[in-house]
Amino acid sequence: MKKIELIDLAAQYRAYKDEFDAAIGAVCSRASFIMGSEVAELERALTAHCGAAHCVTCANGTDALVLALRALGIGPGDEVITSTFSFIATAEAIATLGATPVFVDIEPDTCLIDATLIEEKITKRTRAIIPVSLYGQCPDMAAVNAISKEHGLVVIEDAAQSFGARTGNGKSCALTRVATTSFFPAKPLGCYGDGGAVFTGDAAIAEKLSSLRLHGQSERYYHRDIGMNSRLDTLQAAVLLVKLRHFDDEIAIRQEVARHYDELLTGLPLTRPTVRAGRLSVWAQYAVRVKDRDTVAQKLKEAGVATAVHYPLPLHLQEVFAPLGYRPGSLPVAEEAARTVLSLPMSAFVTPGQQKQIADALRGTL
Ligand SMILES: Cc1ncc(COP(=O)(O)O)c(C=O)c1O
Repeated sequence: MKKIELIDLAAQYRAYKDEFDAAIGAVCSRASFIMGSEVAELERALTAHCGAAHCVTCANGTDALVLALRALGIGPGDEVITSTFSFIATAEAIATLGATPVFVDIEPDTCLIDATLIEEKITKRTRAIIPVSLYGQCPDMAAVNAISKEHGLVVIEDAAQSFGARTGNGKSCALTRVATTSFFPAKPLGCYGDGGAVFTGDAAIAEKLSSLRLHGQSERYYHRDIGMNSRLDTLQAAVLLVKLRHFDDEIAIRQEVARHYDELLTGLPLTRPTVRAGRLSVWAQYAVRVKDRDTVAQKLKEAGVATAVHYPLPLHLQEVFAPLGYRPGSLPVAEEAARTVLSLPMSAFVTPGQQKQIADALRGTL
């Protein structure tokens, strides 16, 4: 039986090979590797796609968060509220700047930050909220924005997994004051290495971000801030421009793949993922919930089906954050999710036949 990858990036390469090869070749023949014209072209295309006024690309999604927090002046003594159920980068960026992450539990059905639990975490030191659009779906951003407005906070969407997603109020990356994304290869819109971007509607923040990603320069060799070297490579921009041309089609196919999983898995003793009404997920992950998750994952592996766990330990229980004093049981919904989530193969290149094979393997396991 042929192995089924979690995300078949090689199949995607084969599908658009001529376009990729031409785009990469064009950058190499001009030897325009740093801040070539594709970078600005991509920034324009990304803003056109999501509806944010400004886009500043950078080296990766973690730097995007650090740049956003730095542009907003967040640092030592500040608290930033975020979801405990995310990749480490969300909290790492906060801590990197000397600020303190304050973790909030999640909704049991979506695994997204539970907005009803945010207000009780706000203190005099709170400066910002980072809701994470996990698995490709935006949380209740209207609720998060309303809380931030009432308390004078800034909202930064961590949209590393959700570029292209939609809610009733607009698209991911254009719903909040600032948003960040990642172009890590496995993301719905991924490049061929590391990449990221920050989005904002605020021209002054955009200008600050552009300077910070280039060593804090005001003009070449003149520096007004301690910045970073965090540019997106021209080659990555060229790859992303190709993928962006096919992105809407791929998002539509991902909806079909998710629907087909929903059909195939109905009746099995597992919980299928939920997308709330009025939202469009880009299905960065199709994460089911199963008892005995690790045994199920092992049996699927033996049946040739790759799976992954996003994520096995919530951020508040990570060793690195032990000094913050959270204990097992502090944020129980996320702790339960960490024990039971299992991501199945998901991309625009999973075939209906493969999905049947995955569902049959699951049925034989559960
Ligand atoms: C929710 C979330 N935030 C931030 C990041 C960091 O992105 P990158 O790996 O590009 O630094 C990721 C990527 O894995 C992520 O999933």
